[in-house]
Amino acid sequence: MPGKRTHAIHAEVITAQPRFHQSAPEVQAYGTVTLLPPLELEEPVRLEMTAQLNQLLADTMTLRDLYKKSHWQTSGPTFYQLHLLFDKHYNEQVELVDSIAERVQLLGGISIAMAPDVAETTTIPRPPRGREAVPVQLSRLLDAHQIIIRDARKLARRASELGDDGTNDLVVSQVLRTNELQVWFVSEHLVNLPLVEATPSRMEGAA
Ligand SMILES: [Fe+2]
Repeated sequence: MPGKRTHAIHAEVITAQPRFHQSAPEVQAYGTVTLLPPLELEEPVRLEMTAQLNQLLADTMTLRDLYKKSHWQTSGPTFYQLHLLFDKHYNEQVELVDSIAERVQLLGGISIAMAPDVAETTTIPRPPRGREAVPVQLSRLLDAHQIIIRDARKLARRASELGDDGTNDLVVSQVLRTNELQVWFVSEHLVNLPLVEATPSRMEGAA
């Protein structure tokens, strides 16, 4: 066959010509782990951990993007500080995304990566495309953090049970601690205190 012959010759010739438009079947399917990396963690453990880490990854990527959406679309008298804060938190979530994804890979798995796959996997509700008021932006971010914090604690405990101390450490030291701190910074903006003149009202719940 002439086509086949051309291909065989092409493969043998040394040339500076880049090979464009190539395609081939995947070398590893999503949801599998490669055999026996020398980590002293059995395949079922690595399968379970990579599946749970991918869930955490999809949710973290969604929160990351929610921060960028908020960074761009925020408005009002606190625009400047929120614009900066949202981008700081976005960058911290970017770091987490990379750490979680690379943990999946080093366990022999495949990390979820592309937006349509993330959208199908995340448990964080989809926001509207349009702009929302600041209190709604803040609430939406806090709700997303809450989902991640709940899942992170569950995953950390399970990792510990299964002897995957590296995953436990990543989830507690990086994911959980970062999310807890960000929750503090965001929630303090939802305290309804006067900006200019203190009002002499009693504290809520005081006799
Ligand atoms: Fe920006």
